[in-house]
Amino acid sequence: MNSFIEKKEFFKGNDIEKIAEEFGTPLYVYNEDILRKRMSEVAGIITKYPYKANYSIKANSNIEILKIAREENVNCDAMSEGEIRLLLKAGFTPDQIFFVPNNIDAKEMQFAIDNGIMTSLDSIDQINLYGSLNPGSKCALRINPGVGAGHHEKVVTAGKNTKFAIAEEDIDEAKRIAESYDLKICGINQHVGSLYMTPEPFLNAIDQFLRIARKFPDLEFIDFGGGFGIPYHKLEDEEPFDIFRLSIEWTKRLDAFVESYGSIPLFKSEPGRYCVAESGVLLGRVNAVKFNGDHKYVGTDVGMNVLMRPVLYDSWHDIEIISNGKVVTGMKEEATITGNICESGDVLCKDRPMPMIKDNDLICVLDAGAYGYSMCSSYNTRLKPAEVMICSDGSYKLIRRRETFEDIFDTFV
Ligand code: LLP
Repeated sequence: MNSFIEKKEFFKGNDIEKIAEEFGTPLYVYNEDILRKRMSEVAGIITKYPYKANYSIKANSNIEILKIAREENVNCDAMSEGEIRLLLKAGFTPDQIFFVPNNIDAKEMQFAIDNGIMTSLDSIDQINLYGSLNPGSKCALRINPGVGAGHHEKVVTAGKNTKFAIAEEDIDEAKRIAESYDLKICGINQHVGSLYMTPEPFLNAIDQFLRIARKFPDLEFIDFGGGFGIPYHKLEDEEPFDIFRLSIEWTKRLDAFVESYGSIPLFKSEPGRYCVAESGVLLGRVNAVKFNGDHKYVGTDVGMNVLMRPVLYDSWHDIEIISNGKVVTGMKEEATITGNICESGDVLCKDRPMPMIKDNDLICVLDAGAYGYSMCSSYNTRLKPAEVMICSDGSYKLIRRRETFEDIFDTFV
């Protein structure tokens, strides 16, 4: 088995133990080089036509990461007022933000309108709400292309089993309602779901979506969504998502579309995970090792409050073990790595063959940059962790301090 952090020189020669001690564990650590590389890859998927990648900041909204996205010529999508506020704070201009909300109230919609942010509407009721607040303006519609994809049923966002988007059969009604408020539908967007490892599900959705796009004349943009996967089994040499092939196949489909559409809209994508997942790891400390029957339980401070994905979706994250600052490989024994939360389900991996793990070792959870920190909670009144960036010049810096108990207590009135 390889070591990803050694192969990639993830910590750029910095002492892992020292970083863990300086900032405490659990600790999210990001590598700027990997982050920039992935951002620049998504920024350049389509080169033949007007194209823009919108980084989907729900995956990781640390403001330093948003600033790097901006430097790499990536725009962003926002799901909430909070995400819009954060993007404005990070220096994005309103025209660089696409608001893709779901089931919002008048106040949140008005916030987007007041800030001049293009908004996608994903139900007839939301069109009615938007139309009544901002008649005679431009908007986008989120359309369900009918085919979904994703690593778990909870993250499939198209097809018949989802709360998202306007069904194809409701498009005429949606257009009629929009017209009644004199709204101009200037863009359509889709998102089929999250994490597929080959381009095919996305390409199939593109075929459907471009067929549907013909029902809308004069579109200024078509946004195809995100969902591009990353290899979570990288220690077993899982192949990465083939973004090069995606680029070729997607461009072919755009060639056929523009030939007959009459104009060339701006094409967009909306990747989140692909941009950030592999640039982040989560360091945790082993606080107790015990056996219960045949099972070895490795008790760490990486609870489900810090990384929810394994508990929520049974997601796999590769884990490396660091002892005295060095990655440990070699002899294997099965271990169940758990956190410090008061639930039996608080498990990072179950009976997994791992190198020998001892009390006080560090665990390094790979691919934690997406939907890691952004899904943290304070469950069990535990503090949200700090975040550190390993910079391209080899230095490192704190990019978010650990939460304090005062931060939590301050919300009580
Ligand atoms: N656009 C929209 C409208 C979305 O809902 C999402 C993700 C994205 C773009 C970005 O998708 P991505 O490229 O990251 O797959 N917490 C789950 C993933 C939830 C995704 C939610 N929507 C996980 O940890 O796997």
